[in-house]
Amino acid sequence: MIKTFKRHIERLDRQYLWHPFTQMKDWTEESPVIITGGRGSFLKDITGKWYIDGVSSLWVTVHGHCRKEIDDAIKEQVDKISHSTLLGLTHPPAAILAEKLVKIVGANGRLPLRLSKVFYSDNGSTAVEVALKMAFQYWRQKGVKGKETFLSLDNAYHGDTLGAVSVGGIDVFHQIFSPLLFKAYRAPSPYCYRCKLGKKYPSCRLRCLQEMEKVMWKHHREIAALIIEPLVQGAGGMITAPEGYLKGARKLCSKYNILMIADEVATGFGRTGKMFACEHEGVSPDILCLAKGITGGYLPLAATLATDEIYGAFLGEFKELKTFFHGHTYTGNQLACAAALAGLGIFKKEKTLKNMQRKIGLLGNELDKIRKFTHVGDVRQRGFMVGIELVKDKKTKEPYPLEDKMGWKVCHRAGEKGVLIRPLGNVIVLMPPLSISAGELKSLARITARAVQEVAG
Ligand SMILES: Cc1ncc(COP(=O)(O)O)c(C=O)c1O
Repeated sequence: MIKTFKRHIERLDRQYLWHPFTQMKDWTEESPVIITGGRGSFLKDITGKWYIDGVSSLWVTVHGHCRKEIDDAIKEQVDKISHSTLLGLTHPPAAILAEKLVKIVGANGRLPLRLSKVFYSDNGSTAVEVALKMAFQYWRQKGVKGKETFLSLDNAYHGDTLGAVSVGGIDVFHQIFSPLLFKAYRAPSPYCYRCKLGKKYPSCRLRCLQEMEKVMWKHHREIAALIIEPLVQGAGGMITAPEGYLKGARKLCSKYNILMIADEVATGFGRTGKMFACEHEGVSPDILCLAKGITGGYLPLAATLATDEIYGAFLGEFKELKTFFHGHTYTGNQLACAAALAGLGIFKKEKTLKNMQRKIGLLGNELDKIRKFTHVGDVRQRGFMVGIELVKDKKTKEPYPLEDKMGWKVCHRAGEKGVLIRPLGNVIVLMPPLSISAGELKSLARITARAVQEVAG
């Protein structure tokens, strides 16, 4: 019975589905893992096999799967209403969540933030589109001419819509679309393991920031905002910025009258060990993008937070057309907001951030063992964001060629052993739910280590 159903789903998948970021030729030659259930840190496939969800279902699951509190909040909301628009109407979950987000962002001196207004959308890319358009229109309405482009980093990833791709810096994903994109300036990525400037931290004294300053000095009249993934460039390969880099970037933005957009779509909601990555360096962006973990990994929701200063520039008489003409159909969906409120409740109730500190240390100890492997060039960790960079030659740092599909092979092997993870090229990513137990975390690291050893040697 199960076998027949499995074959049926496989056939439907092969015949009708087109998967994201997937070479479908390869996909149709493999037997896919079909997920039918989940509990805590685990996912269950159609045959009843359980796996550790090592990447939190693409970096979103925060408190584990099937959390009663979130399940109940959604069910309760379903019985009232599932969706009504925020265009011309409002509703309790959106308003209550907006207050919570503003407070949580500024709580306990967390960020010296002036972020006071919440603009909802439904995914990370739209949160970024909103931020870019907001920054652009802000300068127009302030009467500052010429600030019509952006500054972003090499290896940056801000989503897949064209605005987000325009400020992206991963050539494999983005190069092909270049004729469709607007112009943006780039600064070097703080990728210490492969420093393009040939420097070493800390003796470099953050030379990459000096390069950023050069671009700002030359083009600040054209640059509306710097968009940056604070502390960790996620999709670029879990590239962790050295201490002081983020704070330095903030200082440069202020010096050159450039807004700072912090894209915390991946780093937000505890991923780096604090609620928001900006907190680590006491940095206050002008615009903050949130998504992914905002609903605990249940439903699509995003929020772009702006300062009073930015919001104020959009106020005016109706006929002045200073309105922010942007919005998505499911903006601030009621179910998603209810899930987000329940997720925030769990942070408080379970002291998630406090409890994860010990686990961050434990994960670090496990990673130290992997660091020694012959084909592991670099291991980067910031909280529960981990990148294990595989190399063909540890001495020369020569990467494995694309066609070796090394990252993919390691993840495939880990899957056979009961751990679901996904690579970013030659980088193996670990991003477990924050609620993972110490024992599960050890298993995740050890099984990954074994998969690396078996595949790469
Ligand atoms: C930093 C960052 N920004 C934006 C996005 C895009 O989010 P989404 O896939 O929800 O559009 C991602 C997704 O991985 C991300 O990591």
